[in-house]
Amino acid sequence: MRAPFITFEGPEGGGKTTQVALLERALLDRDIRCQVTREPGGTELANSLRKVLLSVATHGMGAKAELLLMLAARADHVQRLIRPGLDEGTTVICDRFVDSTVAYQGAGRGLDMGLIGKLNHFATSGLVPDLTLLLDVPVEVGLKRAARTSRPDRFEGQALDFHQRLREAFRQLAEREPERIKILDARQPEEETARQVLEQVDKLLRERG
Ligand SMILES: Nc1ncnc2c1ncn2[C@@H]1O[C@H](COP(=O)(O)OP(=O)(O)OP(=O)(O)O)[C@@H](O)[C@H]1O
Ligand SMILES: [Mg+2]
Repeated sequence: MRAPFITFEGPEGGGKTTQVALLERALLDRDIRCQVTREPGGTELANSLRKVLLSVATHGMGAKAELLLMLAARADHVQRLIRPGLDEGTTVICDRFVDSTVAYQGAGRGLDMGLIGKLNHFATSGLVPDLTLLLDVPVEVGLKRAARTSRPDRFEGQALDFHQRLREAFRQLAEREPERIKILDARQPEEETARQVLEQVDKLLRERG
């Protein structure tokens, strides 16, 4: 059986990057081999596409181009990093994955959800995370947090209602797939969120034996 595949999702500033790092440390402390990665990104090609996708210089990018670039990055990432890692027994922890495409390009940009589902499936060759931690945070809180560390990227710079639609989409996904997607309240202190993340990961590891 391949190693566990764990993803973090949610609106901007929920603390995904923070929690990914804390989970990595917790797993390494237990001598569990793991690899942290993020989307868009993770391979040379995907990192180049990340720059294009996040840069404010491409602010006029059309929604279809945005979707296809995201998926090109994902296809390369899955084929060349995630899948081989899982197959050799490395637990992979990924900061954003397929659910972000449903939220951003589906709910955010208004592209067809059915099509996004099919394209996600194509890009991942059907790879689905074993566990997804949704770090849910009110939009204003998350954006304020994100703004503390960096200038807004092309997505963070979108209007508030765009971010509101994303948050709603993530919550709907969690309602539809409660077995895979666990909602955590990311307003709480990061140590408490980390504790709840580990609780979910432990449950997953126990179920997998
Ligand atoms: N539970 C928390 N309470 C308060 N601040 C937090 C919490 N978790 C993270 N932060 C802070 O919020 C900011 C954003 O956190 P982080 O970069 O981990 O979020 P993110 O979800 O990865 O954001 P982005 O979507 O922009 O990548 C950082 O300054 C971080 O230190
Ligand atoms: Mg982040």
